[in-house]
Amino acid sequence: MSLLSIRLGIIMDFKQWFEEKSMIINNSLNEIFKTEENPQMIVYEAMNYSLLSGGKRLRPVLLLGAYEIFNEEIKLAMPFACAMEMIHTYSLIHDDLPAMDNDDYRRGRLSNHKVFGDATAILAGDALLNKAFEIGLQASIESNLNIKQAANALSIIANSSGTEGMIGGQIVDMFGHDEILNIEDLKYMYALKTGAIIKSSVVAGAILGGADNDEVLALEKYAENIGIAFQIVDDILDVTGTQEKIGKAVGSDKANNKITYLSFATIDKAKEHVYKYTEEAINSLSVFGENGRYLKELAKYLTKREY
Ligand code: IPE
Ligand code: IPE
Ligand code: MG
Ligand code: MG
Ligand code: MG
Repeated sequence: MSLLSIRLGIIMDFKQWFEEKSMIINNSLNEIFKTEENPQMIVYEAMNYSLLSGGKRLRPVLLLGAYEIFNEEIKLAMPFACAMEMIHTYSLIHDDLPAMDNDDYRRGRLSNHKVFGDATAILAGDALLNKAFEIGLQASIESNLNIKQAANALSIIANSSGTEGMIGGQIVDMFGHDEILNIEDLKYMYALKTGAIIKSSVVAGAILGGADNDEVLALEKYAENIGIAFQIVDDILDVTGTQEKIGKAVGSDKANNKITYLSFATIDKAKEHVYKYTEEAINSLSVFGENGRYLKELAKYLTKREY
């Protein structure tokens, strides 16, 4: 429950909370790439095509959810929340390229490169990444945020997107199969390709909100566990889902000979592990009492997701 909700005596249910957060995130994202007609217009169209085509908005919601535990002035964190969604969307555009997973559908519509071509899709992804840091830096300079906290948050976000994070994980996912011999090896890859950005969303939100070191550590543990659970569910949905529900092709992992959780565990076992990691995530929020309630519910919701 946010400080504001407590003060107003409002207890929102989780669904309402999540919908409200996604709505304000979508509204902000809608405003970012509105531009006058110009010669490079096509790159804005490609960026908006993927950015504004749905998606759960998990990373920005996590950032705002962590921030809100410590600070009710959510507006200040919005540029950072949008930045996380832009980095995530860029990673999806590139992930779908023929040179990577070669997937034709994403978020219920044709993948970026299927509509705009590989060159524009690559550039649109790069541009989303650049814009993410531009809006984060601009907010750090122009808003009332503590500049050191803002720089710290951006540095953590940058690290999580790069070779020690998402990009490192994507490389292992693409080319490191000989190194993935068991679930522990797989978890290393998960922690990077999926977990890193989930974790930096939570940690950046906490730091911007003014969390102390112990509070950041507790949230870090939460994020690490939901990150693993999230990718296990993604691997399961690639087998059990329908394209209509997940908005992307099913069977992509098999078609690409990917090593996934299901290379080492049955679906039932994998689901058991999802619950185990989720429980650990929830337990690490106990220090926040009632204030951790929405993030706890969010972890549970992610185990049940169908897309
Ligand atoms: C898909 O992420 C890529 C993974 C890390 C598994 P999401 O499942 O969060 O995709 P959107 O944002 O809802 O489209
Ligand atoms: C991708 O993992 C994680 C990213 C960094 C984009 P996947 O390749 O499994 O994601 P989906 O299934 O295509 O969304
Ligand atoms: Mg991939
Ligand atoms: Mg993929
Ligand atoms: Mg997948």
